[in-house]
Amino acid sequence: TAKSELKDFLHISDFDKATILKMLDRAAEIKALLKSGDRSFQPFKGKTMAMIFAKPSMRTRVSFETGFFLLGGHAIYLGPNDIQMGKREETRDVARVLSRYNDIIMARVFAHQDILDLAKYATVPVVNGLTDYNHPCQIMADVLTIIEHIGRIEGTKVVYVGDGNNIVHSWLLMAAVIPFHFVCACPKGFEPDKKTVEKAQQAGISKIEITNDPKEAVKGADVVYSDVWASMGQKEEADSRRKIFRGFQVDENLMKIAGPKAYFMHCLPAERGVEVTDGVVEAPNSIVFPQAENRMHAQNAVMLHLLGV
Ligand code: CP
Ligand code: NVA
Repeated sequence: TAKSELKDFLHISDFDKATILKMLDRAAEIKALLKSGDRSFQPFKGKTMAMIFAKPSMRTRVSFETGFFLLGGHAIYLGPNDIQMGKREETRDVARVLSRYNDIIMARVFAHQDILDLAKYATVPVVNGLTDYNHPCQIMADVLTIIEHIGRIEGTKVVYVGDGNNIVHSWLLMAAVIPFHFVCACPKGFEPDKKTVEKAQQAGISKIEITNDPKEAVKGADVVYSDVWASMGQKEEADSRRKIFRGFQVDENLMKIAGPKAYFMHCLPAERGVEVTDGVVEAPNSIVFPQAENRMHAQNAVMLHLLGV
């Protein structure tokens, strides 16, 4: 299958640069339309989406549900206790049943294999709304936000500070498609998945650096990016991680080292006073709320692409 014609949206690097840029252009176009108050574009009219959530969510749930509705469709929220995929019912059965009622499925799960299984057995498109491995919709929204604020993603320096987690994996897979400079500064032992780092490096498109020195890393950054130190499913490690990650908090001093042009980004939810200070989140160069808003527009463009409308 050509990289522009895949059924599902599971990893950014499944798509080629032209397709990713096309989706981002479309996102900006539909954002402008929706923000103008125009509701005449209803490509999802008569369509339904099933949304499976094995984990909590605010942004993903509301942005998908609202976005699908604003473009004419109806979205169904299935929370952690509803279908209990893999527990009450096997993933391959969930996939085939939901495909018979719905035009598209969005899922947020723990194990990445669950989304791969869902996509394999679903006959309709499956969109990854976060797994333990990655979060592609988030990074699409992030790149849209960077393009809006800086004018481009190509050639910028994005420095992530914190845990080498799902967000980092999606940044690395974006860097395998679009050229920019990506740096991940994390404590020893919390580096991103080695295979994913190699994949991004071997693509030979972007400059990729993994380091344990946040102060050195942020110098000259266009974006300093932070995320929680304990992701969903790791909350029992929160206390021990607070000790290990000391020195990786994005505070006013680190932003000063980054330099005057650096924007602050965070996928949210943020724990102020932990991975980032309140002052950094509230500073004029923090773009965390435009970033959150863009989830909806980026995802609308992804769904339009998958549904071929
Ligand atoms: N950034 C993000 O995915 O937020 P939620 O967990 O609230 O969906
Ligand atoms: N790394 C975080 C992202 C939340 C949007 C988590 O997985 O909990």
